[in-house]
Amino acid sequence: MRDSTPEGAVSGPLLDWYDRNARVLPWRVPPGAAETPDPYRIWLSEIMLQQTTVAAVQAYFAKFTTRWPDVAALAAADDAAVMAAWAGLGYYARARNLLKCARIVAARGAFPRSRAGLQELPGIGPYTAAAIAAIAFGQPETVVDGNVERVMARLHAVSTPLPAAKRELTALATGLTPRERPGDYAQAVMDLGATVCTPRAPACGICPLAGACAARAAGIAAELPRKTAKPMKPVRLGIVYVASRADGAVLLERRPAQGLLGGMLGWPGSTWTEEAAPPEAPPLEALWRDAGAEVRHTFTHFHLRLRVRLAQVPLGVPPARGAFVPAAEFDPRALPTVMRKAWAIAAPSLTPGKPV
Ligand code: ADE
Repeated sequence: MRDSTPEGAVSGPLLDWYDRNARVLPWRVPPGAAETPDPYRIWLSEIMLQQTTVAAVQAYFAKFTTRWPDVAALAAADDAAVMAAWAGLGYYARARNLLKCARIVAARGAFPRSRAGLQELPGIGPYTAAAIAAIAFGQPETVVDGNVERVMARLHAVSTPLPAAKRELTALATGLTPRERPGDYAQAVMDLGATVCTPRAPACGICPLAGACAARAAGIAAELPRKTAKPMKPVRLGIVYVASRADGAVLLERRPAQGLLGGMLGWPGSTWTEEAAPPEAPPLEALWRDAGAEVRHTFTHFHLRLRVRLAQVPLGVPPARGAFVPAAEFDPRALPTVMRKAWAIAAPSLTPGKPV
């Protein structure tokens, strides 16, 4: 039976639309399917999707679920293997929390089913707890991400800019969440935001909510949500040292667990500062030369420019920092993106086996 409550006026057409247009995603149970979603796969996908696109997540999701098909397998994994598999997704604290969470859940036997219980686990904030509770366990929780905020701002023509409008948009989203099929409803709003109610040039002509949309009626859909201008990101400068030994081994260093790129492998280097270029402090004595190009990479709070210094070193020179990783064990894909960029710049100028 069609829900005739005020929230049903939105969730009804939206669920009908979702039944016909749901995106096919590897962690998702299609609408109407008899199977229930696997909480492990929902949790893993939602952690990966925090601030990363659906397109970017797919290959990582496949890699993780093939290698670690359930939470017990992930809980038993080697920390370094998980960090290496996560490399390139960014936000490495998430990978450390992923492992912590898997170990807690494996020890207690199952994921908690409530939003409150989920939110006590490492790496699970209000958004992710609501998403898992709704999608994996069918709880009527409201999921609010950037897509949902945009859909709500337009539907109700909220002109208060983000982030100030967050509370209001969350309240509006909560008021529309149905008690039936809350998981499908959450995914329907996200899919609508990703495919129809897009940031620029929304496709109002094919939107199931066009008739109920206040911004559409006012002709301002594409202008919403408004956003308060963000402060400019500062630029930080640094140096990395890429050393290649005569046997092809490369000098890498695991970064401290706390802080940026925590727990990841990288090239030894300077600290990154906003002031003058940092002084040289190579990790071992060698004839260092400049790679001739610098790495540019943007983190959440700053832009980074890294000078790349390189050297080819003979066997038997002990490094003051880091450890040589044999050529056969070195995989640049296990490095975070900024370090992979440095390798891409250095590698063409390094000839293994030829100390200079
Ligand atoms: N973004 C984050 N979680 C999602 C989901 N479950 N479906 C679609 N997009 C998403």
